[in-house]
Amino acid sequence: MKITSLEEYQKTYKRSIEDPEGFWAEIASQFTWKKKWNKVLDWNFTEPRVKWFEGGQLNITENCLDRHLADKPDRTALIWEPNDPAESTRRYTYKQLYQEVCRTAEMLAAHGVKKGDRVCIYMGMIPELAMAALACARIGAVHSVIFGGFSAQSIVDRVQDARAEYIITCDGANRGAKEISLKSIVDDALEDLDIIKHVFVHRHTGSETRMIPGRDIWWHEARNESINDYPAEIMDSEDLLFILYTSGSTGKPKGAVHTCGGYMVYTTYTFINVFQYQPDEIFFCTADIGWVTGHSYIVYGPLCAGATSLMFEGIPTWPDAGRFWDIVDKHKVNILYTAPTAIRSLMSYGLQPLEGKDLGSLKVLGTVGEPINEEAWFWYHDHVGKNRCPIVDTWWQTETGGILISNLAGVTSARPSYATLPMPGVQPVLVDEKGNEVLGNPAAGNLCIKAPWPSIIRTTYRDHERCRLTYFHSYPGLYFTGDGALRDEDGNYRITGRVDDVLNVSGHRIGTAEVENAINEHEGVVESAVVGFPHDIKGQGIYAFVICPEKEGNDQLRKAINATVDLVIGPIARPDRIQFVTGLPKTRSGKIMRRILRKIAEGEMHQLGDTTTLLDPNVVEEIKKGRIE
Ligand code: WT7
Repeated sequence: MKITSLEEYQKTYKRSIEDPEGFWAEIASQFTWKKKWNKVLDWNFTEPRVKWFEGGQLNITENCLDRHLADKPDRTALIWEPNDPAESTRRYTYKQLYQEVCRTAEMLAAHGVKKGDRVCIYMGMIPELAMAALACARIGAVHSVIFGGFSAQSIVDRVQDARAEYIITCDGANRGAKEISLKSIVDDALEDLDIIKHVFVHRHTGSETRMIPGRDIWWHEARNESINDYPAEIMDSEDLLFILYTSGSTGKPKGAVHTCGGYMVYTTYTFINVFQYQPDEIFFCTADIGWVTGHSYIVYGPLCAGATSLMFEGIPTWPDAGRFWDIVDKHKVNILYTAPTAIRSLMSYGLQPLEGKDLGSLKVLGTVGEPINEEAWFWYHDHVGKNRCPIVDTWWQTETGGILISNLAGVTSARPSYATLPMPGVQPVLVDEKGNEVLGNPAAGNLCIKAPWPSIIRTTYRDHERCRLTYFHSYPGLYFTGDGALRDEDGNYRITGRVDDVLNVSGHRIGTAEVENAINEHEGVVESAVVGFPHDIKGQGIYAFVICPEKEGNDQLRKAINATVDLVIGPIARPDRIQFVTGLPKTRSGKIMRRILRKIAEGEMHQLGDTTTLLDPNVVEEIKKGRIE
C-alpha cells in the first residue's frame, strides 16, 4: 500500500488515473471484508451518484480493531494525554480498545440503538469519544459528532436535522483552565426537543450533574464491564457511517454524509502514504474529533492502519505555550499533525517555550485546515522539526473525507505554502469563471475534481438537492471545492482560500450567512453583513457590519451581540470586529455587495471597484470612515 519513492508515486499516480477501478480494488483487497464487492465504482456527477465497492460487506470497526487482535493485540492503539499534565495518561492496547468498544456497543444496543439510527455525540477530547463513535459504527448506527464548543442551539439544529434519538455526552470537558459543562448544555438543548429517547452520560470531570430519570443514563452504570466481545453489524459498503455538519455559504450547516467502504479504504491509504507511517510510530493529530480531521486521522485512518494514535484533551497554550512540545517529548511522538493557526499562535510566544525541549523523536510534521504562510512554515520547519523533518501540507475538506492534495513525507518534494501534488486517484483541475478548464502551467482558477475518489461526500443528509447544487452544479461534470488555487510550473497546487462566502477562522469553517443570522437574533439589530479580514493568528477574522435602530451602537451592544452569537453558534463564531453602520451597500435589487465590504474590512479602500450600481453610494463613504483597524 505504501509508496516509497518519487518514481513510484509517478507510476502509481498514472496507473490510478488510467485504471481507477483496478487500482482501488487492489488497495481495498488489503482490508477485511465480510463479502467482496461486485462492482468497484459506479458514478455520475450529474445526480450526483457515487458508489464504491457496491455489494461489498464489512464493518469498519473490524478493520480498526478485530483485525489487529491476531498479530498485535498488545500494541498501543490509543494514548490519551489529559488537559492537566499532573493527571495520568491513559493507554489502550488494541485488545483493550476492542473490549471498550464492545462494551459501549452493547450498552447502546441494550438501550434500543440499532442499525441506521442516528446518534449525536457531544463530548470533550477523551477516549470515550473515540469509543462512542466506534461503538456506533460497530452496531451500524450513524454517528454525528458535534464539536464540544458548539452551543445548545447548534445541538438543537443538528439533532433535528439528523433526526437523532440518542445523544452521548459527558458531564464536563476540561479545556485549559476552564471546565465546560457539556451535560447542562445538552439539557438546555433538550428543552426544545422531544425526539431524544436517551442521553448517555460519561462521568469525566466529576462535577455535579443533573440526571433526568428514564431519559439520562450513566455510562458507568449502564455498561456491562464483564462483556469482552460484541458482534459487529454487517454493513454494506454504501451504508452510512457518519454525518458531520459543516458550514456552507448559505443558512444552516449541512450534514455531510460518509459511507463505510470507500471512507475506510481512502482514509487508511492516505494516512499511511502522506505521513509515511511505520509500525510502532506515535502519531499525534492535535485536531478535535468534532471535526473531520479527528474522524479521519485520529480515529479511523490510524486505527485501521494499526497505528498508535495520541489524543490530547487540552489546548496548546495551557498551562503554558510549551505544552505540545512537552507532549511530544513525554510520549516520544514521531509524527505531529496540527493547524497553521496553532503554529502561528505558538510562534507569537517566541522561542522560549521551546527551550529545553528535545523534540528528537519527531520525524514528520503535518499541517491542515488553512493555507500556511511561509513564515509559519519556516518556523515549524526550523524550530520544531529542527530542519530535519519533512512537512506535509495536506489540503482536503469535510466533504472529501480524506487528504486529496499533499506531498508524501520525504518521498515527494515539499514547497512552502503549497499542498503540492494530488494523491493517487485524485484528478484536480482549475477552471475559469465560465467553467472552462485552465490548461498548462502555471495556472490559476477555481479548484475542481474531475472524478470520484473513494471517500467523496455521498449526499447532504436528507437533502440530496443541496448536495447537487453546492458541489456539482457550478461546473457540470465536476466536483467544485469552493477553493481557489494556483498551479506552478511543476504542477504543484497552492490553495489560496475560499472563493465563496465561507470563512476559515483558526482552521474552522464558518459561513458568513450563519454568523449574520446569529447576529440578527439580537433584538437590537436590524440587519448585518459579515465578511472576513486577514488576521495574524486566526488566518481570517470575522468583521461584522451591523445596523441597529438607535444608530449609535456602543460597546455594551457589542458585548450583547457577541453573547448572542455564543448562544446561537458558539464562541468560535464571535466577530472580532463589529462596526455599527446606518446602511449597507446594496444594489438596486437589494443585494448586499459584499465585495465592497470585504475590501473595506481588508483595508483596501482604494480598490473598491465599480460602485455605480449601488442604490446609495454614500453609505460606502460612511462605512469607510467608521472602519475599525
Ligand atoms: C477548507 C475545508 C480538511 C480538514 C480541516 C478543514 C481549507 C484545508 C488546507 C490546506 C489551504 C486548506 C480549504 C478547504 N483548507 N486544508 N492544507 N491549505 N487550505 O476542513 O472545515 O471542511 O474546511 O479548509 O479552504 O476548503 P473543513
